[in-house]
Amino acid sequence: MSLVRDNLFFYPHYPLRDFMNKNKTIGIIGFGNMGSALGLALKENGWQVNIYDKDRRRLKKKRHIVICKDSRDLIKKSPIVIIAVKPQDILPLLEETKNLISTCAPLIISIAAGVSTSFFERRVKGLKIIRVMPNLAAKKGQSVSFVSKGKFAKSGDLALAKRIFTCVGSSFTIGEVFLDKATAISGSGPGYIYYFMECLYSSAVMLGFKKDIAKKMVILTFLGAVNLIKDENTDFSDWIQKVTSKGGTTEAALGLWEKKGLKKLIRQGVNSAYSRAKELNTYKGGCKC
Ligand SMILES: NC(=O)c1ccc[n+]([C@@H]2O[C@H](COP(=O)([O-])OP(=O)(O)OC[C@H]3O[C@@H](n4cnc5c(N)ncnc54)[C@H](OP(=O)(O)O)[C@@H]3O)[C@@H](O)[C@H]2O)c1
Repeated sequence: MSLVRDNLFFYPHYPLRDFMNKNKTIGIIGFGNMGSALGLALKENGWQVNIYDKDRRRLKKKRHIVICKDSRDLIKKSPIVIIAVKPQDILPLLEETKNLISTCAPLIISIAAGVSTSFFERRVKGLKIIRVMPNLAAKKGQSVSFVSKGKFAKSGDLALAKRIFTCVGSSFTIGEVFLDKATAISGSGPGYIYYFMECLYSSAVMLGFKKDIAKKMVILTFLGAVNLIKDENTDFSDWIQKVTSKGGTTEAALGLWEKKGLKKLIRQGVNSAYSRAKELNTYKGGCKC
């Protein structure tokens, strides 16, 4: 099914000419880290992108990007709306726009961590909502995004959302019950990796390397290590064995980390991220929702 036919079928509210236009139209509310990464990638892929951010400094006029007056103006102009504000900003945004969303019936795609589709559906009856968990590698077209649909969204909506997120990397359909778990692995994942990189970097500086050399060394080591394994179907544990000689240097470090329980700590950290994602779903701005 083509994008145009998908749109026509599921978005009867919007005038036919919008869909016949070779530019597909999408709106993004919140043009911060993720919103701008998505907006720029979608623009590159031939979409007409409408944007709004309450922080006007984030809004810069570009070809094929339209700055809307406010979120209401954006919803009126966009058959598909990506919500890319922080989880705690979702409730006020919904309160302000729910009547208009009911009337215009756009497909809503939320990327907010820990905010379930039912949270939206409880506020806007019959809302077609898709929930996505991308990551910040979207900025380089290398996000891994997990996509899930709400009760009223159709499978065509899900397919459309999946296609939208292929503009910023790979996208996979997943049951919503796994989204908070994906948040704790791939959503927060870049942060964990940078944390480990920072640990290696500060260790290199401690050993006497100049900061710029230490930084390059760490980045190139990560890139090399990832490139080495990315197309292979070998378990991580086998790779660890391949690079760890008995009685060698790697074994000295890994042995100490194992003994000190680093793996257990990492699992606990991931569990904390998962609990936090579930908690975000229960409390919004201090009110139980
Ligand atoms: N960053 C990541 O790595 C990542 C990964 C996966 C998912 N996510 C999800 O993506 C969402 C956005 O994260 P982010 O890092 O891009 O946040 P961000 O950089 O803070 O961008 C959010 C932007 O939305 C604006 N905003 C807040 N309420 C608004 C409203 N009612 N109307 C219009 N704009 C509004 C904010 O303005 P103010 O600053 O003035 O409030 C801010 O400029 C979050 O829900 C997060 O859970 C993020």
